[in-house]
Amino acid sequence: MAEIICVIGNKGGTGKTTLSHMLCQGLGLLGHRSACVLTDTTREPLKPDGRRYITADARTRESLTKVVDKLRTLDNWIGVIDGGGNRTEMDRKLYALSDIVLLPFRESHEDIRTVVRDLEMFPRAYAVPSQWSTNPWQRDAADRSVLQMMRPYRHRILNPVNALSASKLLLQKTIPDQLPTPLSNACRALGRQILEVLEIDHDDALDIGYEHGEVNPEVRLAAEEMPMRLASRRN
Ligand SMILES: Nc1ncnc2c1ncn2[C@@H]1O[C@H](COP(=O)(O)OP(=O)(O)O)[C@@H](O)[C@H]1O
Ligand SMILES: [Mg+2]
Repeated sequence: MAEIICVIGNKGGTGKTTLSHMLCQGLGLLGHRSACVLTDTTREPLKPDGRRYITADARTRESLTKVVDKLRTLDNWIGVIDGGGNRTEMDRKLYALSDIVLLPFRESHEDIRTVVRDLEMFPRAYAVPSQWSTNPWQRDAADRSVLQMMRPYRHRILNPVNALSASKLLLQKTIPDQLPTPLSNACRALGRQILEVLEIDHDDALDIGYEHGEVNPEVRLAAEEMPMRLASRRN
């Protein structure tokens, strides 16, 4: 049976679609089979060519049921459902059928307040800081806002996904032959983290980056880059 992850949240523009594709690409680069499932009726399906994952169109209720039923029959697959946003009913439905739920949020107070409500509504969900600044000052301020406003939920906050302008390449209908290395590394780091949450053992030998002779820098974030997660582990 496939693991099903949904990326939801009651707010648009937080990075759900980007995160879904980065995660699938990362899982693919790590040698895991994944499908990115589109449910947003305002978006066009993307071509699978060149991606390390397949794409599925589930913009109607019937097609979503079909895609999920199909995924359920596939062993060792991971399905990532990109929720549309601003659709509480749909979010509830996706939550009910998922093994893991991801709630991306940006650093604004409004986003943080929204994600706190969503964390309360969806007890199995994890919040993912999205489009996080790589500027040390801004990052520090953002991390502090999060700790202040989300302290009771700190054990449910995953490592941030950094702001990376190349991430929009994955949202193009057809992606370029070669993706920039920083994007591939960010995708891998996200993939690894989600495999950890799913408690799926990862064999580094499967990492496609190695196979292709790419330089594979240490993709795990340094301790100081993940204060929230470490803080929760210490407690
Ligand atoms: N990690 C990121 N780095 C830079 N820009 C991002 C990132 N994630 C999302 N964005 C940008 O933010 C906007 C909204 O992202 P999108 O994934 O479409 O959000 P949603 O699906 O939640 O509406 C897009 O312009 C997208 O390119
Ligand atoms: Mg979207």
